[in-house]
Amino acid sequence: MSDIQKESVLKAFQNRSATRAYDPARKISDGDFAYILELARLSPSSVGSEPWKFLIVQNKELRAKLKPVSWGMATQVDDASHLVVVLAKKNARYDSDFFGGVMDRRGLEGEAREKALAVYKKFQEDDIRITESERALFDWACKQTYIALGNMMSGAALIGIDSCPIEGFEYEAVNRILAEEGLLDPAEWGVSVMVTFGYRAKEIRPKSRKPVEEIVQWVE
Ligand SMILES: Cc1cc2nc3c(=O)[nH]c(=O)nc-3n(C[C@H](O)[C@H](O)[C@H](O)COP(=O)(O)O)c2cc1C
Repeated sequence: MSDIQKESVLKAFQNRSATRAYDPARKISDGDFAYILELARLSPSSVGSEPWKFLIVQNKELRAKLKPVSWGMATQVDDASHLVVVLAKKNARYDSDFFGGVMDRRGLEGEAREKALAVYKKFQEDDIRITESERALFDWACKQTYIALGNMMSGAALIGIDSCPIEGFEYEAVNRILAEEGLLDPAEWGVSVMVTFGYRAKEIRPKSRKPVEEIVQWVE
Protein backbone atom coordinates (compact mmCIF):
# COMPACT_ATOMS: atom_id res chain seq x y z
CA MET A 1 0.00 0.00 0.00
CA SER A 2 2.90 2.34 0.62
CA ASP A 3 3.36 2.80 -3.13
CA ILE A 4 0.19 4.93 -3.24
CA GLN A 5 1.30 8.54 -3.14
CA LYS A 6 -0.73 11.11 -1.22
CA GLU A 7 -0.01 13.65 -3.94
CA SER A 8 -1.54 11.52 -6.65
CA VAL A 9 -4.64 10.81 -4.57
CA LEU A 10 -5.07 14.52 -3.83
CA LYS A 11 -4.55 15.36 -7.48
CA ALA A 12 -7.27 12.91 -8.47
CA PHE A 13 -9.64 14.40 -5.89
CA GLN A 14 -8.90 17.93 -7.10
CA ASN A 15 -9.44 16.87 -10.66
CA ARG A 16 -12.69 14.99 -9.92
CA SER A 17 -15.61 17.09 -10.96
CA ALA A 18 -19.31 16.41 -11.34
CA THR A 19 -19.30 15.84 -15.09
CA ARG A 20 -22.28 17.23 -16.97
CA ALA A 21 -20.96 16.59 -20.49
CA TYR A 22 -19.28 13.36 -21.56
CA ASP A 23 -17.32 12.57 -24.69
CA PRO A 24 -19.71 10.21 -26.53
CA ALA A 25 -16.82 8.58 -28.37
CA ARG A 26 -15.04 7.35 -25.23
CA LYS A 27 -16.28 4.29 -23.39
CA ILE A 28 -14.95 2.78 -20.18
CA SER A 29 -13.32 -0.62 -20.70
CA ASP A 30 -14.96 -3.69 -19.18
CA GLY A 31 -11.94 -4.17 -16.92
CA ASP A 32 -12.06 -0.62 -15.59
CA PHE A 33 -15.80 -0.83 -15.01
CA ALA A 34 -15.44 -4.14 -13.19
CA TYR A 35 -12.91 -2.37 -10.92
CA ILE A 36 -15.45 0.40 -10.16
CA LEU A 37 -18.13 -2.18 -9.30
CA GLU A 38 -15.70 -4.06 -7.08
CA LEU A 39 -15.11 -0.85 -5.11
CA ALA A 40 -18.87 -0.68 -4.54
CA ARG A 41 -19.04 -4.30 -3.45
CA LEU A 42 -16.14 -3.87 -1.02
CA SER A 43 -17.65 -0.77 0.59
CA PRO A 44 -18.48 -0.81 4.28
CA SER A 45 -22.09 -0.75 5.44
CA SER A 46 -23.77 -0.50 8.82
CA VAL A 47 -23.78 -3.91 10.53
CA GLY A 48 -22.48 -5.36 7.25
CA SER A 49 -25.97 -5.08 5.80
CA GLU A 50 -24.91 -4.43 2.16
CA PRO A 51 -28.46 -3.20 1.47
CA TRP A 52 -27.76 -2.34 -2.16
CA LYS A 53 -28.02 -3.42 -5.76
CA PHE A 54 -26.49 -1.75 -8.77
CA LEU A 55 -28.42 -1.64 -12.05
CA ILE A 56 -26.09 -0.82 -14.92
CA VAL A 57 -28.35 0.76 -17.50
CA GLN A 58 -26.70 0.52 -20.91
CA ASN A 59 -29.93 0.06 -22.83
CA LYS A 60 -30.57 3.21 -24.90
CA GLU A 61 -34.36 2.89 -24.85
CA LEU A 62 -34.44 2.67 -21.08
CA ARG A 63 -32.10 5.64 -20.75
CA ALA A 64 -34.45 7.56 -23.06
CA LYS A 65 -37.39 6.67 -20.81
CA LEU A 66 -35.53 7.87 -17.72
CA LYS A 67 -34.32 11.12 -19.29
CA PRO A 68 -37.55 13.18 -19.14
CA VAL A 69 -38.00 12.37 -15.44
CA SER A 70 -34.33 12.90 -14.56
CA TRP A 71 -33.58 16.60 -14.89
CA GLY A 72 -30.28 16.21 -13.03
CA MET A 73 -28.77 14.04 -15.76
CA ALA A 74 -30.52 15.38 -18.84
CA THR A 75 -27.26 16.71 -20.32
CA GLN A 76 -25.30 13.53 -19.66
CA VAL A 77 -27.47 10.48 -19.93
CA ASP A 78 -27.13 10.09 -23.70
CA ASP A 79 -23.34 10.34 -23.77
CA ALA A 80 -22.31 8.76 -20.47
CA SER A 81 -20.38 5.56 -20.95
CA HIS A 82 -22.16 3.89 -18.03
CA LEU A 83 -25.27 4.76 -16.00
CA VAL A 84 -25.66 3.12 -12.60
CA VAL A 85 -28.95 3.18 -10.73
CA VAL A 86 -28.28 2.36 -7.10
CA LEU A 87 -31.10 0.52 -5.36
CA ALA A 88 -31.57 0.38 -1.60
CA LYS A 89 -33.29 -2.43 0.28
CA LYS A 90 -36.65 -1.76 1.87
CA ASN A 91 -37.74 -3.28 5.18
CA ALA A 92 -34.27 -4.38 6.24
CA ARG A 93 -35.62 -5.10 9.72
CA TYR A 94 -33.58 -6.90 12.35
CA ASP A 95 -36.10 -9.78 12.27
CA SER A 96 -36.29 -10.14 8.47
CA ASP A 97 -34.88 -12.89 6.26
CA PHE A 98 -32.66 -10.23 4.74
CA PHE A 99 -31.11 -9.56 8.15
CA GLY A 100 -30.77 -13.28 8.70
CA GLY A 101 -28.56 -13.31 5.60
CA VAL A 102 -26.42 -10.57 7.15
CA MET A 103 -25.94 -12.67 10.28
CA ASP A 104 -25.11 -15.73 8.15
CA ARG A 105 -22.45 -13.86 6.17
CA ARG A 106 -20.88 -12.77 9.43
CA GLY A 107 -20.92 -16.33 10.69
CA LEU A 108 -23.05 -15.43 13.72
CA GLU A 109 -24.87 -18.38 15.26
CA GLY A 110 -26.55 -19.38 18.51
CA GLU A 111 -26.09 -17.08 21.45
CA ALA A 112 -23.79 -14.66 19.60
CA ARG A 113 -26.47 -14.24 16.94
CA GLU A 114 -29.21 -13.64 19.53
CA LYS A 115 -27.04 -11.06 21.29
CA ALA A 116 -26.22 -9.21 18.08
CA LEU A 117 -29.88 -9.22 17.01
CA ALA A 118 -30.94 -7.79 20.38
CA VAL A 119 -28.49 -4.90 19.89
CA TYR A 120 -29.77 -4.28 16.33
CA LYS A 121 -33.41 -4.48 17.47
CA LYS A 122 -32.74 -1.74 20.00
CA PHE A 123 -30.78 0.30 17.47
CA GLN A 124 -33.51 0.07 14.83
CA GLU A 125 -36.39 0.66 17.25
CA ASP A 126 -34.90 3.35 19.52
CA ASP A 127 -32.50 5.17 17.24
CA ILE A 128 -33.61 4.65 13.64
CA ARG A 129 -37.19 4.63 15.03
CA ILE A 130 -38.57 2.15 12.53
CA THR A 131 -41.89 2.06 14.31
CA GLU A 132 -42.56 5.73 13.52
CA SER A 133 -42.18 5.61 9.75
CA GLU A 134 -41.52 3.06 7.03
CA ARG A 135 -39.28 5.63 5.45
CA ALA A 136 -36.79 5.55 8.34
CA LEU A 137 -35.49 2.09 7.54
CA PHE A 138 -35.32 2.79 3.81
CA ASP A 139 -33.39 5.99 4.49
CA TRP A 140 -30.96 4.00 6.66
CA ALA A 141 -30.35 1.64 3.73
CA CYS A 142 -29.99 4.61 1.37
CA LYS A 143 -27.27 6.07 3.60
CA GLN A 144 -25.24 2.92 3.14
CA THR A 145 -25.53 3.14 -0.63
CA TYR A 146 -23.97 6.61 -0.57
CA ILE A 147 -20.77 5.10 0.85
CA ALA A 148 -20.57 2.78 -2.16
CA LEU A 149 -21.40 5.77 -4.38
CA GLY A 150 -18.50 7.79 -2.96
CA ASN A 151 -16.08 4.92 -3.24
CA MET A 152 -17.02 4.25 -6.86
CA MET A 153 -16.58 7.90 -7.82
CA SER A 154 -13.32 8.36 -5.94
CA GLY A 155 -11.90 5.10 -7.25
CA ALA A 156 -12.93 6.08 -10.77
CA ALA A 157 -11.23 9.48 -10.37
CA LEU A 158 -8.02 7.73 -9.31
CA ILE A 159 -7.81 6.03 -12.70
CA GLY A 160 -8.93 9.08 -14.69
CA ILE A 161 -12.60 8.22 -15.09
CA ASP A 162 -15.17 10.96 -14.61
CA SER A 163 -18.53 10.70 -12.91
CA CYS A 164 -21.57 12.61 -11.72
CA PRO A 165 -23.81 11.62 -8.81
CA ILE A 166 -27.49 12.14 -9.59
CA GLU A 167 -30.26 12.98 -7.17
CA GLY A 168 -32.05 15.19 -9.66
CA PHE A 169 -34.87 12.89 -10.70
CA GLU A 170 -38.50 12.20 -9.96
CA TYR A 171 -38.29 9.31 -7.53
CA GLU A 172 -41.79 7.97 -8.03
CA ALA A 173 -41.52 8.03 -11.81
CA VAL A 174 -38.08 6.39 -11.91
CA ASN A 175 -39.19 3.67 -9.49
CA ARG A 176 -42.31 3.07 -11.55
CA ILE A 177 -40.40 2.83 -14.85
CA LEU A 178 -37.90 0.36 -13.40
CA ALA A 179 -40.69 -1.71 -11.85
CA GLU A 180 -42.53 -1.78 -15.20
CA GLU A 181 -39.35 -3.02 -16.84
CA GLY A 182 -39.20 -5.81 -14.25
CA LEU A 183 -35.94 -4.44 -12.86
CA LEU A 184 -37.08 -3.96 -9.30
CA ASP A 185 -39.75 -5.27 -6.98
CA PRO A 186 -41.12 -2.09 -5.38
CA ALA A 187 -42.04 -3.99 -2.24
CA GLU A 188 -38.39 -4.90 -1.71
CA TRP A 189 -36.25 -2.25 -3.39
CA GLY A 190 -36.32 1.48 -4.14
CA VAL A 191 -34.04 3.82 -6.05
CA SER A 192 -31.56 5.56 -3.78
CA VAL A 193 -29.36 7.54 -6.13
CA MET A 194 -27.91 7.31 -9.63
CA VAL A 195 -24.45 7.97 -11.02
CA THR A 196 -23.04 8.38 -14.51
CA PHE A 197 -19.49 7.49 -15.55
CA GLY A 198 -17.43 8.32 -18.61
CA TYR A 199 -14.83 10.76 -19.86
CA ARG A 200 -15.39 14.50 -19.70
CA ALA A 201 -16.02 16.33 -22.98
CA LYS A 202 -14.50 19.61 -21.79
CA GLU A 203 -12.22 20.92 -19.10
CA ILE A 204 -13.61 21.81 -15.70
CA ARG A 205 -13.85 24.98 -13.70
CA PRO A 206 -11.49 25.29 -10.74
CA LYS A 207 -12.93 23.78 -7.55
CA SER A 208 -14.71 25.97 -5.05
CA ARG A 209 -14.74 24.74 -1.47
CA LYS A 210 -15.19 26.21 2.02
CA PRO A 211 -11.92 26.86 3.84
CA VAL A 212 -10.81 24.11 6.19
CA GLU A 213 -11.20 26.37 9.28
CA GLU A 214 -14.88 26.72 8.54
CA ILE A 215 -15.60 23.01 8.48
CA VAL A 216 -13.13 21.46 10.90
CA GLN A 217 -13.12 21.94 14.66
CA TRP A 218 -10.51 20.16 16.72
CA VAL A 219 -11.45 19.21 20.26
CA GLU A 220 -8.41 18.50 22.41
C1 LIG B 1 -25.75 13.16 -3.69
C2 LIG B 1 -25.47 14.09 -4.83
C3 LIG B 1 -26.41 14.32 -5.80
C4 LIG B 1 -26.14 15.13 -6.89
N1 LIG B 1 -27.07 15.27 -7.87
C5 LIG B 1 -26.72 15.92 -9.01
C6 LIG B 1 -27.59 15.94 -10.12
O1 LIG B 1 -28.69 15.39 -10.11
N2 LIG B 1 -27.18 16.57 -11.24
C7 LIG B 1 -25.96 17.18 -11.33
O2 LIG B 1 -25.65 17.72 -12.39
N3 LIG B 1 -25.12 17.21 -10.28
C8 LIG B 1 -25.45 16.58 -9.13
N4 LIG B 1 -24.59 16.55 -8.07
C9 LIG B 1 -23.27 17.18 -8.22
C10 LIG B 1 -23.04 18.37 -7.30
O3 LIG B 1 -23.74 19.48 -7.78
C11 LIG B 1 -21.53 18.62 -7.23
O4 LIG B 1 -20.90 17.48 -6.69
C12 LIG B 1 -21.20 19.85 -6.38
O5 LIG B 1 -21.68 21.01 -6.99
C13 LIG B 1 -19.69 19.99 -6.18
O6 LIG B 1 -19.01 20.03 -7.41
P1 LIG B 1 -17.87 18.97 -7.79
O7 LIG B 1 -18.42 17.60 -7.56
O8 LIG B 1 -17.60 19.23 -9.25
O9 LIG B 1 -16.69 19.24 -6.94
C14 LIG B 1 -24.87 15.78 -6.97
C15 LIG B 1 -23.94 15.59 -5.94
C16 LIG B 1 -24.21 14.74 -4.91
C17 LIG B 1 -23.15 14.49 -3.89
